[in-house]
Amino acid sequence: MKGKFIVFEGPDRSGKSTQASMLSKALSENGFDVVLTREPGGDQVAEQIRNILLNPDHNVSDMAELFLYEAARAQHTQQKIIPALMDGKIVICERYTMSTCAYQGYGRGIDMKIINQLNSIATLDFQPDLTLVFLMSDKYFTQRGEYLFSDRLEQEDEAFRHKMRQGYREIAQKTPNAVVVDADRPVKEIWRTVLDELVKHDILTGADIKIL
Ligand SMILES: Nc1ncnc2c1ncn2[C@@H]1O[C@H](COP(=O)(O)OP(=O)(O)OP(=O)(O)O)[C@@H](O)[C@H]1O
Ligand SMILES: [Mg+2]
Repeated sequence: MKGKFIVFEGPDRSGKSTQASMLSKALSENGFDVVLTREPGGDQVAEQIRNILLNPDHNVSDMAELFLYEAARAQHTQQKIIPALMDGKIVICERYTMSTCAYQGYGRGIDMKIINQLNSIATLDFQPDLTLVFLMSDKYFTQRGEYLFSDRLEQEDEAFRHKMRQGYREIAQKTPNAVVVDADRPVKEIWRTVLDELVKHDILTGADIKIL
């Protein structure tokens, strides 16, 4: 594949969108061909699945939830991510397979073998070049989100958030090209870490970073 695939992972409100959009903007302004996208969603069909998944009025069974995430992922990966990478673009995606392992596996308790199998089918076994896993202390969940609308998944309690934070940590250790980022820090410090990791993973060069 000619392009590069960068994934921002981590629990709700950990700062993924903030850093992903900073990166997308900085790269686009400096002539890189970038696609900024997200899961669940990222294309017309998958965005409709997102609406079903995140609506707080919906009562969704655990297995239906898993299938909906994977259906959205299959659509998004095959219709948008892979074609963009084949065109040589840098694809920046908020959330991907690791979120399903953390939420539906560690959070809901669905057998990880089932999740891994579905992830593998939905992604055609395609792996990101870098997964940045943002982990922050639970106290910031309320501090950073006091005035935000809570979607269906954000309404889960602290014990659920604790389980999936632990999940992210464990999965990150086992995943190739995955790095845990301390997301308790100020935006600018995290930004430096993001750039350092892009260089370490041969996605950008030191010269690229100087102009960003
Ligand atoms: N490093 C930081 N320090 C303090 N506040 C931050 C930091 N990063 C982001 N924020 C703020 O925290 C809130 C959540 O950030 P953001 O939307 O980037 O998180 P997210 O991980 O994309 O959340 P979600 O999973 O809900 O999409 C926003 O109000 C944002 O401005
Ligand atoms: Mg976000």
